[in-house]
Amino acid sequence: MTKRLEMYKCDICGNLIEVILEGPGELVCCGQPMSHLHAKKNDIGLEKHIPVFEKMGEHSLKIRVGSQPHPMTDEHYIMFIETISKDGRESHLKYLYPSELPEMIIDTSSDKLLAREYCNLHDLWEGIND
Ligand SMILES: [Fe+2]
Repeated sequence: MTKRLEMYKCDICGNLIEVILEGPGELVCCGQPMSHLHAKKNDIGLEKHIPVFEKMGEHSLKIRVGSQPHPMTDEHYIMFIETISKDGRESHLKYLYPSELPEMIIDTSSDKLLAREYCNLHDLWEGIND
């Protein structure tokens, strides 16, 4: 049984998916069950991964990765940032590429958001703005 907005990864081919609508079935890729990704919530190590929120005006919010900018090299970079409203009804996703800044700006009037990001080496991380 999956839940809406959960992420699953194939440990063989690297497919990474997000559940849009949940169902009772098991997610399978390359002939085996996909791994449920659980976001890390506390920074460990030298690089900082936890999203940081910065209000840009009444209806705009910047999300940065992390408290010190995460590397954005070909070998090690943030592949996407996603925000999810507290009620889970609205999400925004931005794909990132090496040499870009590890950040996104969204239009929102909500101050309560969850942001998560995916590092190509260190997987999924999340932070909450509340
Ligand atoms: Fe990383």
